[in-house]
Amino acid sequence: NAERAELKDRIRRLLKEKGAVLVAHYYVDADLQDLAEETGGCVSDSLEMARFGRDHPAQTLVVAGVRFMGETAKILSPEKTILMPDLDATCSLDLGCPADEFAAFCDQHPDRTVVVYANTSAAVKARADWMVTSSIGLDIVAELHAQGKKILWAPDRHLGSYIQAKTGADMLLWQGSCLVHDEFKGIELDLLKAEYPNAKVLVHPESPANVVAQADAVGSTTQLINAAQTMDATHFIVATDNGILHKMRMAAPGKTFIEAPTAGNSATCKSCAHCPWMAMNGLRNLAEVLESGANQVHVDPAVGLQAKRAIDRMLDFAA
Ligand code: 13P
Ligand code: SF4
Repeated sequence: NAERAELKDRIRRLLKEKGAVLVAHYYVDADLQDLAEETGGCVSDSLEMARFGRDHPAQTLVVAGVRFMGETAKILSPEKTILMPDLDATCSLDLGCPADEFAAFCDQHPDRTVVVYANTSAAVKARADWMVTSSIGLDIVAELHAQGKKILWAPDRHLGSYIQAKTGADMLLWQGSCLVHDEFKGIELDLLKAEYPNAKVLVHPESPANVVAQADAVGSTTQLINAAQTMDATHFIVATDNGILHKMRMAAPGKTFIEAPTAGNSATCKSCAHCPWMAMNGLRNLAEVLESGANQVHVDPAVGLQAKRAIDRMLDFAA
């Protein structure tokens, strides 16, 4: 409609005027994803968002996603201005892992290498030896396990269990979960698969074990989009935030994507899996922050410096 078109024009103009670049996650509004791509920014998973933000020469980054993504950008580039459409866009994993409780947990297990998921606060990352994202957590823990290290993992218990089962590593798990992925249901998924016997199942590893067990591909958002493109199937059942379907449909036109069930049975439940915090990013607040320069992400410089070590380890490993 006319208002959307006007807002998009305004954002394009403001990005240019301010020399800013838009870095978006696949779960945010489709218009923001399209704008990011069209204007030379990026739309990707959390590992690529971090790398892109660090390497791009723009001095202002607008991060359309959730708080930890903005903080990671700031930690990696403290000299840059990092803006977010809504600074209250958080994550249940971050909320469920307060830094003081986490530090006490680590203090009780000094013999363990501390590996934290990206979906945490800067203070939690500062307490960690490694930060990982869903795209690379498995490889990093496998390497640490091969070196004989015992792991303390936080906060996502499903991702932790998945990595533990895959690698055989000794992992002590914090009991956090993602409020979106935790809702996918194994029994209902099994019923839905019976309706679509030829469909392949794509699952984000923040999902419960009985959902992951039915997957044909498990991975980060980017890895799931790649699987949708490359796997030889016409139908896919997708167990992750439904914001990803926009990109999946563009990347694999002609293929059919069906949302995995979150509750009830497959006949009545067509899922409503969408992160409420990702949904806080819209065209209007994006235009407003670009105009005003409000909603800057701040990270305490000492905490940021400490947290950067854990992030850099991951980025070096990924290089
Ligand atoms: P990805 O790194 O796979 O994009 O995941 C981020 C996230 O928050 C998933 O819920
Ligand atoms: Fe956090 Fe889940 Fe939202 Fe991702 S989808 S940002 S893990 S609450």
